[in-house]
Parts: sequence; structure tokens; C-alpha cells
Amino acid sequence: MTEAELEYRRRSPRSRELAERARELMPGGTTRTTTYVDPYPIYIERGHGARVWDVDGVERLDLICNYSSMILGHAHPAIVAAIREQAARGTGFAATNPLEVELAGMLCDRVPSVERIRFCSSGTEATMFALRLARAFTGRPKTARCEGGYHGTHDFAEVSTHPDPELAGPASEPRPVADSSGTPAAAVAATVVLPFNDPAAAAAIVMRHAAELAAVIVEPIIGAGGVIPPEPGFLERLREVTSQHGILLIFDEIISLRVAYGGAQARYGVTPELTTMGKIIGGGLPVAAFGGRADVMELLLPGRQDSLPQGGTYNGNPLGMAAGLAGMRELTEPVYAELEGKGERLRSGLQQAFDSHDLAAQVNCAGSLLNIHFSSRPVRDYRSLAAADKELSREFFLAMMNEGVMFAPRLMAALPTCLTDADIDQVVESADQVAARLAQTA
Ligand SMILES: Cc1ncc(COP(=O)(O)O)c(C=O)c1O
Repeated sequence: MTEAELEYRRRSPRSRELAERARELMPGGTTRTTTYVDPYPIYIERGHGARVWDVDGVERLDLICNYSSMILGHAHPAIVAAIREQAARGTGFAATNPLEVELAGMLCDRVPSVERIRFCSSGTEATMFALRLARAFTGRPKTARCEGGYHGTHDFAEVSTHPDPELAGPASEPRPVADSSGTPAAAVAATVVLPFNDPAAAAAIVMRHAAELAAVIVEPIIGAGGVIPPEPGFLERLREVTSQHGILLIFDEIISLRVAYGGAQARYGVTPELTTMGKIIGGGLPVAAFGGRADVMELLLPGRQDSLPQGGTYNGNPLGMAAGLAGMRELTEPVYAELEGKGERLRSGLQQAFDSHDLAAQVNCAGSLLNIHFSSRPVRDYRSLAAADKELSREFFLAMMNEGVMFAPRLMAALPTCLTDADIDQVVESADQVAARLAQTA
């Protein structure tokens, strides 16, 4: 057992006890694979601003903020007030509500591609509906996605998210690989896989399958799969080739919406037909949405003979709409600019810390999203991500937890607006100390 793991265990006796109990109830003691930590996860009791406190009373800076959804940090007063007020007025009706119309209007105004929108409760549902809509609109059976991208947990999303490179074919010609033995073979057969950041190879594959492709779905910035920004020309080439062949382009902006007022599509100036959204649009509550070109979204019109139904007991629920509106109102253009500055301050500080100790590391960054990769070469697609050092990554994660800083276990960060420059400097200082220790043992 490493020193970092010993220290992690020393600081978390109550979490360990809870984990032992929880393991008897939930596999791994958690209900989310992404919150599982080896040897066991810590259990968090409360959060305020950029900080969280675990059941052992340990305070940490929270750099992942529920995988990017808590963009204003924890318990933001405007969101708390909105939730309180709405809770007292009712939390769910078998009817639409005025807040839903207001949030719909705000998102249609902000996101260039979104002329019409529908809400749902998770990003998984949003991508599932967007892909289904594309199949219904085009009458074509297959969809394409990028290797290493993440689009949630429905069957059609669970292909080539993190394939074993040995099974996934050549980098420029990736083969679809089921994420688990539970993925239906039909979903694998209906998926075409593209290499991210390789415009020529991706376009060639799209052209080859064009007649049967309903959509290309892509995260304009790969998020959970390592924060990989698009290189100039990649999104543009996807836009071009999909337009030429009547294929719908879907931007999965469930994470990337946070990089600009109008999302990554506004930042990079590429407009898809459909966009999926989640995380920040719900003020931290389970709210997601899909939207896009009016003529495509019109297929959801109830009463049409070929109408595509969209159920969902909690779709547009008033509590989520109230929290979402309160949160999105805070996110003005200057707030995004400030967040961008925080991302760059942390990126450059971390990179300097690693470089000064000759530790081979890449700090990928896009706006307020960051991911540390222990690798000597740039991480620009799934194959370069897969080659990074996972052991060092685990050590760094545990050591930073001991220093009072919480990244995602795979070292992703999604910075909240309330993170101060002093907080960032504290993270960099801790990273510098950890890097010095790791450099001695690496
Ligand atoms: C880009 C992207 N798409 C889809 C999803 C799935 O969203 P959810 O976890 O709300 O189902 C996520 C979640 O992290 C995501 O990052």
C-alpha cells in the first residue's frame, strides 16, 4: 500500500465504516461508477460554495462540483431560495408550468442551434431522444459517434466509450466495441465509430456509411473522457460532411455548455441540427434537455400521425425548472469570461508544477474544464488518453484528497464560479508538493 493510500485511510475512518455497510447494500458501496474510489469512496455530508465536508469532518476544495453541474458551487443562495419557494408551492404536477416556458425561452435565446426544446431528467435521456429523433427524421438506422466520447448510459451510448485499444482496430478506423457484455449486439451493429480530432479519417468513414447514417453525435469538447478540445477544422469538417449527406449533426453539450454563454457551438462557431444539454441548466437538480432545428423537433408534436412520443414523469418538473432558472440567471457573459480566467490560472499553475519536477504530465483545458494526464505526449484523442499512466493518476488523486483538494478520480476538474484566486493558488501549491513526492518515486 502506498503512503498516499495509507494517509487516505487514516483520514477517513467514518467513511470506511460507511463503505463497509454500504457495500452490503450497493455494489461498491455507491450508486455511481464515477464516484467509486479504490480503496473506498469518501461520503460527503455537506457543501458550501467551493468546499465540501465529509463524514469525518475533513474539508476539501471541490474541483469537480458534481461532474460540472454545480457551476455556482454548493448551496448558492439564489438557488436555495428558488428551491425553497417552489417546494412550498408544489414540486410536481401532471401539467406544464410557467417556469418551464421561461427556462425554455432562455436556452433557445442563448444556444445558437436551439429553436425548439424539450426537457428530460438526465443527460442519458437527452442523447437517447436526440438519436431516436434523428433516426425518425431521416429514416436511417445507424448513428456515428467518436471513440472515447461519453453520451450517457443507454444502450446506444454504451459503445466505444472506453474500449480496450487492442480490440478497437486502427486509430484512424476504429471498430465499435461494446462497453460491457450488457450492451446489445444490435446497438453495436448500429454504431459507426469515428476518431476524434482526425477530420480526414472521420469524414471518410462518414462518407462510406452515409446512406445508412441518421446522425453524427459528438461532444464538441470531449468532457468526461479527458477534457479534449477540438483541433481547428475538426468540428467544421464534421459539419461539412454531414450537411453534404443529409446526416444530422448532434452536439452533446451536456458538459461543454459551460464553456461559453452560447455553449461550445458559439465558442467554435459551428452550429449543429440538434443539441443535448444537462448539468448546469438545472441549478444542480436532475434536469436535462434536447433541442434544435424547428422542423426536426416538430416530429415531437403530439397529434401528428408520425409523432415521436416523449414520456417522463419528472420532465420539466417545477423544482428543477426553478433551480435551473435561478442558476442560469447568474451566468452572464462576464461570469463566463471570469471562469475562463480561473481555468487558465489553474492550468498554467499545474503545468508549471509538473514541469518543475520533470513529471511527464499534460494539463488539458477548455474554459473552466481541466483534466490532468500523466503522459509525455499531448492527449488529443482516445488512443493518446488510453496510453496515459493510470497508476500515477490514482496516486495523485489520493494524495490531493489528503491535501484537501478533490478532483474527479480520473483527475477531471470543472471549476465553480466561487473558486477564488487564493483557492487556485492553494491547489497549485498542494499539487507542487505532491508532484515533488511523485517525481521521487516515479
Ligand atoms: C457529454 C455527456 N453526455 C451525456 C451524459 C449523461 O448525462 P447523465 O449523467 O445526466 O445521464 C454526460 C454525463 O456526464 C456527459 O458528460
